[in-house]
Amino acid sequence: MKRSWWKEGVVYQLYPISFKDSNGDGIGDLRGIIEKLDYLKELGVSIIWLNPIYKSPNDDNGYDISGYRDIMDEFGTMEDFDVLLEEVHRREMKLVMDLVVNHTSDEHPWFIQSKKSGTNPYTDYYIWKKGKDGKPPNNWGSVFSGSAWQYEEERDEYYLHLFSKKQPDLNWENERVREEIYDMMTYWFEKGIDGFRMDVINFISKTGEFPDGQRRQDGLYGDFNPLVLNGPKVHEYLQEMHRKVLSKYDVMTVGECPGVSPELAKKYVGEDRNELSMIFQFEHMDIDHDGCKWCFKPWKLTKLKETLSKWQEELESDGWNSLYLNNHDQPRLVSRFGDDKEYRLESAKMLATMLHTMKGTPYIYQGEEIGMTNVRFDSIRDYKDIETLNAYEEMVKGGIMEEEVFMDGVYRNGRDNARTPVHWDDSENAGFTTGIPWIKVNPNYKEVNVKQALANKDSIFYYYKRLIELRKEHEVIVYGRFKEYYKESEQVYCYGRELDGKRLLVVLNFKKEEVDFEIPLELRETHKEILISNYRDVKMGDSFTLRPFEAIVFMM
Ligand code: NOJ
Repeated sequence: MKRSWWKEGVVYQLYPISFKDSNGDGIGDLRGIIEKLDYLKELGVSIIWLNPIYKSPNDDNGYDISGYRDIMDEFGTMEDFDVLLEEVHRREMKLVMDLVVNHTSDEHPWFIQSKKSGTNPYTDYYIWKKGKDGKPPNNWGSVFSGSAWQYEEERDEYYLHLFSKKQPDLNWENERVREEIYDMMTYWFEKGIDGFRMDVINFISKTGEFPDGQRRQDGLYGDFNPLVLNGPKVHEYLQEMHRKVLSKYDVMTVGECPGVSPELAKKYVGEDRNELSMIFQFEHMDIDHDGCKWCFKPWKLTKLKETLSKWQEELESDGWNSLYLNNHDQPRLVSRFGDDKEYRLESAKMLATMLHTMKGTPYIYQGEEIGMTNVRFDSIRDYKDIETLNAYEEMVKGGIMEEEVFMDGVYRNGRDNARTPVHWDDSENAGFTTGIPWIKVNPNYKEVNVKQALANKDSIFYYYKRLIELRKEHEVIVYGRFKEYYKESEQVYCYGRELDGKRLLVVLNFKKEEVDFEIPLELRETHKEILISNYRDVKMGDSFTLRPFEAIVFMM
């Protein structure tokens, strides 16, 4: 397997609006990030991925871009960006940006031209269709509620928007669109950035036909997913992008790819495919709800293990995994897969142990390293996320779901869980801003904050730091072969890693109940050392009892 810096590194995902505000306007900004680079260096991460910082009217927190070569006013200036890049590199870290090219903002100059009647160079930059009997061209529903089509009077046509109506989908069939995108990517690479995280990149190739989709669970609209995801030309486009841009630089790419199985993933990340370095797959993010994001379904450890192990095994010799349990679109990992109350420390460390000892590149989402949790705002009015707010209108106001049931869904799965400001200390607004934060701070910031974590050697922060160091010290953690034990256990996840005679054994108790455990037969009576554990005084021997959320990594 080829070695590379992005396989050996650890990524820190930074959601700028909520990271650190430097000027008191309540919105995180680039200067705020610069202030905190030493903190990230101390943690030990080597790659920073920034969610979008481009010019944007902020309908979807920067995922609606109106200027690809400009910085969002609220975040600062291009000069600030240049300083940020320099400061990141000076600390020997890499900077990865978000690439959002499935769609732009409707305020992007291309769209402003495109929606005009008559013909101009931008007429075909987006996906326009005639309506059918005064209705949209097909029944597709948008991810953010309502139809995926918006009527534009001037053209007497509808444009496609898989996300909000302020996010029109670009027409990748148009070669000029692709060239514009490649030029823009080159612009950023020439500035010196180290890679891109590519937003819903497997959505870019839409079929020539736009048939109705199967009715979704809510009965309102048709599902575009099977008709859009992994479209017929997606690999052709990515290979073209690679040839024209990516191959010229030593960079990493990670494609956000919902609806991708390991088999399909190999097409995106196979070593000789010349497409992407890795993808974000979603199979493990779907285990606690069925189709409907707001409807909870209890998850089973065997299902989580089956999914993660399958990805480990399938990409063993070709391709590379990204390892994540949360991000800006997902609830906090400790609230979802651990216990964010009594065993917050133990379970956050246990989950971190898993993320950092599997094969792939770990991604830490801001605040995860101090064990930040989900939030429960009393009123829907305190929520800011377009997905949540639109769904509330459609589902609750539309009489499809009881308010209580919907809010339970929001508490469990809403995107704002991850978007509340980072807790820097226990002062007002958690030290995030001296002004009024754009979204309320999670009230638990007095107990959960960076200042406190840095003052306590047993904190989650220092546990992450140690895990990151271990990856640097032991190649087996990065490149070792994966092997699972006790697949049928509903309580323990146990797996080994092996490289050139070095072995690791990872034992994770996923429950708050104790459980008896025996070292797998083939590894008994081997000399073992404990590499890391989330409890002190770990018992050695071939059988022992695992305490609540206990995690132990043995080295052999
Ligand atoms: C995926 C991004 O992660 C999410 O935040 C965004 O809303 C959609 N893509 C649309 O860009």
